[in-house]
Amino acid sequence: MRRFPLLVANWKMYPTVSEGIVIANAIKKALEQIHHVEVVLCPPAVMVPMVHETITAAKLTHLHLGAQNIHYHDTGAFTGEISASMVARLVDYVIVGHSERVKWFHETPYETNQKIQAALRHRLTPIVCVGELKKQANAGQEVVEKLPQLLKGVERDDIAKLVVAYEPVWAISSGDPYAHGAATGEYVQQAAEQIRKLVEPQTRVLYGGSTTASNIAEFLDQPNIDGALVGSASVKAAEFITMCEIASEMR
Ligand code: PGA
Repeated sequence: MRRFPLLVANWKMYPTVSEGIVIANAIKKALEQIHHVEVVLCPPAVMVPMVHETITAAKLTHLHLGAQNIHYHDTGAFTGEISASMVARLVDYVIVGHSERVKWFHETPYETNQKIQAALRHRLTPIVCVGELKKQANAGQEVVEKLPQLLKGVERDDIAKLVVAYEPVWAISSGDPYAHGAATGEYVQQAAEQIRKLVEPQTRVLYGGSTTASNIAEFLDQPNIDGALVGSASVKAAEFITMCEIASEMR
């Protein structure tokens, strides 16, 4: 099933607050002219209310806001954490289980699963990240073991609503010792084919890892890929806008 491509901008902890506002404004302005693509901006938590104000004024139905992380409890003594119920007033999406949360904050599959359940309880669309640490001979082999743990107990109806981001950790531009640039379209297609067997036909499957304006077409061209989770290129407004234009032309 083909829909408009979905591009998720994961700003990570890259921009300053003032840079974030400039980037959000530039993307908003560009999307007034670019259609047939869905965009989700995921700024750092402190910028969410400001970016919310910026993009709601534009009333664009194809531009949405997402959080980069949530805690799975609704309230409690969890210093530094933000619950799904807190962000639900402002955002529609939330990234869960990103490999950087796993690597630096030791997030477990159980916690990611609880975050998915919390997001769904508050009508947020989880963007569930999954990927292998090292490149494999059989793309998708590790992912088919990991994904069922993350989706344990999630109803089929809810699986249909969520987004799975296939993010091979070795392909993310993080400077990791295993990192060696984006995967190939063929490799990603093979992994996404395995992921498709575990989800519903309506579930959107994205690719993430070193996507840029130069390689995005290769991934969007794959029949099992519905879009991309873009990291470092998403804070370069001009490049991200070019990626949106490419995606919109490939619908
Ligand atoms: P990258 O990040 O595009 O900078 O590789 C992708 C991600 O981690 O979501």
